Amino acid sequence: MDIVSTTSATYIVASLLFVLSLAGLSKHESAKNGLTYGIVGMAVALLFTVIAVIDANSDGGSSVAVPLMLVAIAAGAAIGLWRARIVEMTGMPELIAALHSFVGLAAVLIGINGHIEGSHYPLASLNNIHEAEVAIGIFIGAVTFTGSIVANLKLSGRMKSDPLMLPGKNLINVGSLALFAVLTVVYVAGDGGRGQDVVLAVLTVLALALGWHLVASIGGGDMPVVVSMLNSYSGWAAAASGFLLGNDLLIVTGALVGSSGAYLSYIMCKAMNRSFISVIAGGFGIAAPAEDRDYGEHREIQADDVAELLAHASSVVITPGYGMAVAQAQYPVAEMTRKLREKGVEVRFGIHPVAGRLPGHMNVLLAEAKVPYDIVLEMDEINDDLPDTDVVLVIGANDTVNPAALEEPSSPIAGMPVLEVWRAKEVIVFKRSMATGYAGVQNPLFFKENTQMLFGDAKDKVNEIVAALG
Ligand code: TAP
Repeated sequence: MDIVSTTSATYIVASLLFVLSLAGLSKHESAKNGLTYGIVGMAVALLFTVIAVIDANSDGGSSVAVPLMLVAIAAGAAIGLWRARIVEMTGMPELIAALHSFVGLAAVLIGINGHIEGSHYPLASLNNIHEAEVAIGIFIGAVTFTGSIVANLKLSGRMKSDPLMLPGKNLINVGSLALFAVLTVVYVAGDGGRGQDVVLAVLTVLALALGWHLVASIGGGDMPVVVSMLNSYSGWAAAASGFLLGNDLLIVTGALVGSSGAYLSYIMCKAMNRSFISVIAGGFGIAAPAEDRDYGEHREIQADDVAELLAHASSVVITPGYGMAVAQAQYPVAEMTRKLREKGVEVRFGIHPVAGRLPGHMNVLLAEAKVPYDIVLEMDEINDDLPDTDVVLVIGANDTVNPAALEEPSSPIAGMPVLEVWRAKEVIVFKRSMATGYAGVQNPLFFKENTQMLFGDAKDKVNEIVAALG
């Protein structure tokens, strides 16, 4: 078998490994295996791509192609390893956004290369298909590139998360799409001269601006959808590059990422009770209008008293949020859970689909701290049990337990399903101050009669409770 056939065969193996990887990642128990399949698939794909490039350039090929490729792989691997080693769990969302921007940039560069090199199809009559691939690849890539940069800036707090509300913003989005369609037709119909270069340049600038505007105009509370949406776009950008390069593996992998990202966006929208179109149209997460509303007084409690309360409870539900990740409180939380279970207290976790800053953020943290999977439940699985729960511990969560989402139709988070923790007998909220959560909305939970605030860093406070439990 020659190298080309061997490479094609290994690409099929790698594609299957990626499918197995996605299947594995869908469950806690099989997630590690899923990860291993993904790593092996990527290693196989990379190895055989390198071999294929070396083979193609072995006699009479380019003398710089192989050294250039090896330098690029070494530099990419070094930067990737360095970043992955130092990134904090709370920094993962912005790192992922940055990685999506690289996929977008690569798709743009591959598109430009395809424009310069011309068609690889054997028949001249198929030239138009090649040109359409160039235009579509560059468009998706450029939107992903700038969109991901804005998402990175917003998630890392270097850009305000409020939505940018340009007048006629929907018109800008729809108009840009229409203009893209027109430019693509003009580009494909072009005769290959200077004019065609200019059309492609205009199309690229339009897509870069659209990506920026699209994400800039989506506000704080809707960021979960943006993260998964860009994930999807990066997949389609890779698939478009696959068509341009005639690389089947890129097409398959891109389609897997694109469709799973699209499905994740659907799940996120459902979790927030929003339609995808309304998220793109923006507006959710706009800072709530300043209100002089008197929510009443909040009550405070100390760690020792919480320990006492827990030791005498028969059922406890813990609802973690972003603050648990910031404090890295998952380890003492796991220890507290172990001690309470030893005392015969039933402890379960309630996870909101958009808790934290990443899909599955809380599940990853709890798994890392070795909390048993079977006591970690989804919001829908736990909500009905909350009225029969003695104590709910809200550890660093805010928006995801905000009753305003259900009770105040004018709230910026109105309609989002939340963990209805206030229906439990006692609620203890762990946070450092009375500050609002990510969406910037005041939380009436803090002022309810059955709620008490435990102020301080979540890790310190849970450690104090663990010590008091003896
Ligand atoms: P948030 O609403 O972000 O609230 C987190 C709370 O943790 C804050 O009120 C903060 O209060 C507290 N906190 C921070 N550091 C702490 C520490 N060291 N110790 C104790 N408390 C600490 O959290 P949530 O309920 O998880 O909601 C997630 C929000 O992020 C939603 O609005 C969601 O839409 C958005 N979002 C989610 C995602 C995904 S995919 N999950 C992506 C982007 C955005 P203090 O400052 O007073 O301590």
